[in-house]
Amino acid sequence: MPPPASSSSSSTSATGQPDVLVIGGGIIGLVTAWRAAGRGLRVALADPAPGGGAAQVAAGMLAAVTELHYGEQTLLGLNLASARRYPQFTAELEEASGQRIGYRRCGTLAVALDADDRAHLRELHALQTRSGLDSQWLTGRECRRLEPMLAPGVRGGLRVDGDHQVDPRRLAGALLIACERAGVLFHRVRAERLTVAGGRATGAGLSDGTLLSAGQVVLAAGSHSGQLAGVPEEVLPPVRPVKGQVLRLRIPEPPAGGPPFLSRTVRAVVRGTPLYLVPRETGELVVGATSEELGWDVTVTAGGVYELLRDAHELVPGITELPLVETCAGLRPTSPDNAPLLGPTALAGFQLATGHFRNGVLLTPVTGDAMAEALTSGRLPEEARPFSPARFSPVTSPGAEPVRVPEEQPV
Ligand code: GLY
Repeated sequence: MPPPASSSSSSTSATGQPDVLVIGGGIIGLVTAWRAAGRGLRVALADPAPGGGAAQVAAGMLAAVTELHYGEQTLLGLNLASARRYPQFTAELEEASGQRIGYRRCGTLAVALDADDRAHLRELHALQTRSGLDSQWLTGRECRRLEPMLAPGVRGGLRVDGDHQVDPRRLAGALLIACERAGVLFHRVRAERLTVAGGRATGAGLSDGTLLSAGQVVLAAGSHSGQLAGVPEEVLPPVRPVKGQVLRLRIPEPPAGGPPFLSRTVRAVVRGTPLYLVPRETGELVVGATSEELGWDVTVTAGGVYELLRDAHELVPGITELPLVETCAGLRPTSPDNAPLLGPTALAGFQLATGHFRNGVLLTPVTGDAMAEALTSGRLPEEARPFSPARFSPVTSPGAEPVRVPEEQPV
């Protein structure tokens, strides 16, 4: 349960103005606020329900290698940098919050159920090998030796021992507490409008009527980031929602000394549709996920649940014995190139941390570090520079005029 609204003398100056206002309290907004506060900045965050959002649905795979796609090699660099940071990040966050976040170094097995799936996995393996990634081809028999609950028909697979998992709900809860302990001031209301004056972002108008001024504003509103009023069109992030439906099942305790139901994340592409099963230490088994371009719809549908269960049953037949404890749907904040938008925009004082699509949980550590650096120095660290919002804004190409905004925009 979220702790009550809090304020802190360290989060605002004597005039009440924070150095940074973060709009959006999902894991990306929270990690930005926490890391910025850790650099000595006074930080405020606006969100009606901080700690919510896509992290409440996400499975939490840290799948830099098994989710590699053609054309996304630049993103791979950032994904790997963030995956490498997870052990240290986990230690720091658990220390700061007093909470465990369920980081589990369990590895991943991606398997094929038919000849087409196997051809697809062979292609993925070749791409991984060309990219210098650690991934081992296994026969179907070797896959079942690792995971005896797999269907007998499994035709082969890829063992990726470096793709781990974390529990996104616990991650969000821990970030919320860490922010509060670091003095971040929470406004548990919606930011309705960016305010702009003198050619720079000056703060935001909140739904409770507050007009909040801040030295810099970070828009980290997930799939809603493209909708904030008052943002000049040239710097409005091109982010859209992509729906994902997810199931949560419960694995009973294995008998003493008995094998676990699944010991690692298991994934497959079943008839062209990606599927994953993520077993947690707590006994939760997350099954996901659909991928649907349906705007803001977050309805859990019979068809979505049916397809997930049908495909999961083909992969791990014993799954139908498990209690189904939850169905839910969330929205992935998606950019035109499936990569995040990080750091300064052409509007002075206005930065972005959004568009993380399938990799929000994986990219949380590196995003926090990159945004803290950008907020203190005005520049992204080297590894994050390819993800500047400038790639979608022709006006920010070298030599171009900075974005022009009206002198003042009323709230
Ligand atoms: N990264 C898993 C998903 O977006 O479904």
